Amino acid sequence: MGVMRAISVSQTGGPDVLQIAEVPDPAPGPGQLLVAVAAAGVNFIDIYQREGRPPYQPQVPYTPGAEGAGTVTAVGPGVTGFAAGDTVVWTGVPGGYAEQVLVPVQAAVQVPDGISAETAAAVFLQGLTAHYLCTDTFPVRAGDTLVVHAAAGGVGLLLTQMVRMRGGTIVATTSTAAKADLARQAGADHVTGYGEFTAVTREVTGGAGAAAVYDSVGQATFDESLSVLRPRGTMVLYGGSSGPVPPFELQRLAAGGSLFITRPTLVHFIAARDELLARAADLFGWIAGGQLDVRIGGRYPLAGAAQAHQDLAGRRTTGKLLLIP
Ligand SMILES: NC(=O)c1ccc[n+]([C@@H]2O[C@H](COP(=O)([O-])OP(=O)(O)OC[C@H]3O[C@@H](n4cnc5c(N)ncnc54)[C@H](OP(=O)(O)O)[C@@H]3O)[C@@H](O)[C@H]2O)c1
Repeated sequence: MGVMRAISVSQTGGPDVLQIAEVPDPAPGPGQLLVAVAAAGVNFIDIYQREGRPPYQPQVPYTPGAEGAGTVTAVGPGVTGFAAGDTVVWTGVPGGYAEQVLVPVQAAVQVPDGISAETAAAVFLQGLTAHYLCTDTFPVRAGDTLVVHAAAGGVGLLLTQMVRMRGGTIVATTSTAAKADLARQAGADHVTGYGEFTAVTREVTGGAGAAAVYDSVGQATFDESLSVLRPRGTMVLYGGSSGPVPPFELQRLAAGGSLFITRPTLVHFIAARDELLARAADLFGWIAGGQLDVRIGGRYPLAGAAQAHQDLAGRRTTGKLLLIP
């Protein structure tokens, strides 16, 4: 048995804890696929875990990575429906920052012909997230005005495009002119900085407020996001890129206009296999049909994992970051 290269974290901390290590090649057990990783997705959750930010406290040592795509090289006992040579994509499987990873069949999805492993890895976690946010968490209807924060980010660019497909009007926030251009190209109707989004939203809704706010920035935006909702509007807090939101007084929902608040997470929207496959089929169909553009904003070698984390946390990135082992 040989060895492979993988990122190994022996204690949580700053980006420098992401170290290359040589570890034994994994062997597929029952119900598992052995996959040669073509591209591993870099996501904000990888940063929360690396930092050990509650409630994300991984057992060390561990190999980061929740998402990727690649080629099946072997299948374990009892596996049906997958064979060596298949291109598959997954999310919710640990250990993707590596040359090879074991993927349980329940998490693996076949990548259709015509879609590259890189594109599949780039769209999967963030695209599935954008999908459930605008179809199920707050189902956007034509004519709704929505605020999408961090619209040039990984989830943001995909969510903006999907909200647009559903006929929503989008007030998007970004921090730079270049990011604003990307948000506009993705279909945002009004692009603003974080200081002006409440005023812009009030103006474009004639004072009524937004039907929902999709807020992944968290600490820095939460209060203003809540303040810009229309009566009976929905606050969708789905991340904390600027830090976690402190404990919340429920009475504020009454004062704000009988508001709704939810703090969703992807795992609960793809737990059923048919739901995972249906959302994935939408993503692949939109890509094949030219309706969904997947922007890969950066590719890094495995040894560049620390740089990728620094760039993502430092707001220097747009779209999706991939590690190419
Ligand atoms: N709940 C779920 O199911 C789920 C699933 C996937 C992702 N998420 C969350 O969605 C968010 C986006 O994830 P992503 O991987 O697509 O990242 P991303 O949006 O590509 O990157 C984060 C962006 O947030 C903005 N931001 C604003 N304030 C920030 C700050 N203080 N520090 C860092 N960034 C800041 C930056 O854009 P500007 O420079 O334009 O402000 C930055 O580019 C994360 O919070 C993540 O945890 C949640």
